[in-house]
Amino acid sequence: MTHSLVTGGAGFIGSHLVDALVARGDRVSVLDNLSSGSLDFLAGSRDAIEFHRLDLLDNGFDAMLDGIDVVWHLSANPEVRIGITEPEKMFRQNVDATRRVIEAMARCGVRDLVFTSTSTVYGEASVVPTPEEYKPLAPISAYGQSKLEAEQLIERFCAMESGRSISFRFANCVGPRSNHGVTFDFFHKLRADSGALEILGDGKQFKSYFHVADCIAGMLAVSPAEACPNGGFAAINVGSEDGIDVVTVADAVCEALGLADVEYNFTGGIDGGRGWKGDVKRMLLAVEKLKGFGWTPEFGSRAAICDTAQWLDENY
Ligand SMILES: NC(=O)c1ccc[n+]([C@@H]2O[C@H](COP(=O)([O-])OP(=O)(O)OC[C@H]3O[C@@H](n4cnc5c(N)ncnc54)[C@H](O)[C@@H]3O)[C@@H](O)[C@H]2O)c1
Repeated sequence: MTHSLVTGGAGFIGSHLVDALVARGDRVSVLDNLSSGSLDFLAGSRDAIEFHRLDLLDNGFDAMLDGIDVVWHLSANPEVRIGITEPEKMFRQNVDATRRVIEAMARCGVRDLVFTSTSTVYGEASVVPTPEEYKPLAPISAYGQSKLEAEQLIERFCAMESGRSISFRFANCVGPRSNHGVTFDFFHKLRADSGALEILGDGKQFKSYFHVADCIAGMLAVSPAEACPNGGFAAINVGSEDGIDVVTVADAVCEALGLADVEYNFTGGIDGGRGWKGDVKRMLLAVEKLKGFGWTPEFGSRAAICDTAQWLDENY
């Protein structure tokens, strides 16, 4: 039986991954400091897993690696905007914590690592949809930079310790248990005032949104051993095959909540309509590589947003 360890397993994506690993028959250990995750998200799997409340920046991680076959390292600070106000915190949680994970894996002889990275490592790519081999990787946010540095640490681990790793580069993931991002933001703004909605930027930022069910199916479609049969590091994009602009996101959220005639107030944004410093204006990922392993996304961007808004409406 495969023994999986999921860091950040009480978070939005992590908890869905834990449910899926339990369902496929893995023995599952979960580590989370519950800073943004919740034990409620693990309710369905609680009796089948070993849960450890631990901060990766504290000591005690080595003890958890005994008998582990694969580490799924999801814990991070995923809020792109935190990188503007608290960059140090972002680099500690995304880079230092990753360094601690791979150093402990090296000490304990664990080879296989699955990492969750992001489209923001590409920065403002001139090729859209952007393939994995796109260069140069030139992030424009602290978040993207921190994830790129984490990827480089993992590549070094693979080279020096005969590790095998997949870094899944995600577009914007949404769905049940969403706890951050534009859909979450719009939902809560509309709860407070159903007549008007503040939209950061010019509303024309065009991005891909994908459903967490497609995210988990993608993560399980290929293992580090399959992606890297001779060892090493593989980056694999995960996202929907279409993109939508922010106004379409707002329309979808309003429609899902049954709201009509909502007045949109644009902040106008900075530097050509960005919502914030470091906001990439156009993002769509090429997903042929993952499709080559038999995966196909079932949701388009708009349908994924609608499903998320409906879940938020039913659960908040
Ligand atoms: N949601 C997206 O759209 C998206 C897009 C690209 C990449 N990602 C990546 O996917 C992963 C999961 O993101 P998510 O959206 O589920 O976010 P999330 O905030 O719900 O999950 C992160 C989890 O990590 C935990 N955590 C944070 N720092 C920790 C630490 N130092 N020690 C232990 N636990 C810690 C949090 O409590 C939380 O449960 C992250 O690595 C994120 O960067 C997410």
